[in-house]
Amino acid sequence: MDNVRKVIYGENRIVRSSYPASVLALVGNQSVSMMHGEEHKEKKRQLMKFLNPDFFNSHTPALYRTISQRIQEWKESPAIDLHHECRRLFVNLAAKFLINIDISDAAVAELAEQLQIFMDNMFCLPWNIPGFGFYKAIKAKERMRQIIASSLTQTENNNKSEMEFSSVLQGLCSTSGDDDVSKNVILLDSIIDLLFAGAETVTSAGFSLAYQLAKHDDVMDKLRHEIASLDLKDTDDVISARDIQPMKYVNAVVKETLRLLPPVGGAFRTALESFELDGFTIPKGWSVSFGIRDTHNRDPVINDPMTFNPDQWLTNTADSFAYLPFGGGARVCPGQAYAKMILKLFTVEFARSCSIDIVQDSDLSFWPTPRPSGQMLVSIRKC
Ligand code: HEM
Repeated sequence: MDNVRKVIYGENRIVRSSYPASVLALVGNQSVSMMHGEEHKEKKRQLMKFLNPDFFNSHTPALYRTISQRIQEWKESPAIDLHHECRRLFVNLAAKFLINIDISDAAVAELAEQLQIFMDNMFCLPWNIPGFGFYKAIKAKERMRQIIASSLTQTENNNKSEMEFSSVLQGLCSTSGDDDVSKNVILLDSIIDLLFAGAETVTSAGFSLAYQLAKHDDVMDKLRHEIASLDLKDTDDVISARDIQPMKYVNAVVKETLRLLPPVGGAFRTALESFELDGFTIPKGWSVSFGIRDTHNRDPVINDPMTFNPDQWLTNTADSFAYLPFGGGARVCPGQAYAKMILKLFTVEFARSCSIDIVQDSDLSFWPTPRPSGQMLVSIRKC
């Protein structure tokens, strides 16, 4: 934990965030994660300014309704592909609430598919040759730009001006003095950046959460008990940010899911100068990475780190450097409040309106994010 603390808090002093060449080329230097120094600080500040309590207070009921509607649709099928459907839902939420574009269901489905190709191929040799991962990721990004550009045109035709796009997006792409072409590319790439950072991670977390609920009836019972004790059992009641606040067990379930199956398994840094870590010298220029999943698995405060046990969060106050699903320090995730809110709404809706049964199970794979290695089918039924 001390090593993680040293690396996380050493940002810009002993280390600097850095990604493999393929990721840098694909994500682009307009992405907050790829920026450094003052430019990074300013972009991050803009982003955090908009993801504030007002954003949640005003958007939670609409977020809830979108989640609830999709879960209703899932109940109508004998079985759904859980990871695939989670991706469609969370891409849709990011497009609607973080970006605020009018986007059809068909466009969301294709965007979700291209995002998966982009994500799955981004850690690769940066060779733009047909058949190679890098080539596939570039093609996926081009297609995403086209889909988003046509949704933007649609949004404008429906009389929404660019100024009405979400304030989150405005914070990300507030550029002055650039020509129209580069502004347009920056806008499209900022949207892809938000989808990549904000939908892929939440997809993995939402999938893991539903999977754990399917396997733990006792957890579902405790969730239902908490919801009933707050008089929110009726599925006609729209859930607000204020309703979520006292839900300690819902919070514990989300927290435990992100501990056991953190969507981001680790982070990359480069040493700015030689420094000591646990008796070893890390030479200047070397790559350093800290493992989030490994840190969670070795947490001395957790009794049995490989077991899903939300109850421990009702009493446990783990060292914040043994629990870091959203990272920490200067690079801490700016989307964590949004992600937690979405996951809590998802948990409440599942618990109070349905039961989940695994129809076809699959092993999990952990790269690039936790997900089923084969197809995982579940049946969602009214409870
Ligand atoms: C469960 C969901 C999420 C998880 C587990 C997660 C995790 C993380 C982690 C661990 C980092 C730090 C990486 C590092 O130290 O290098 C990070 C950074 C980041 N995340 Fe998230 N994230 C999630 C959701 C989101 C959402 C919803 C958004 C957008 C609204 C977002 C936007 C970002 C951005 C822009 C950064 C880069 C920050 C910087 O470099 O300063 N994330 N995320």
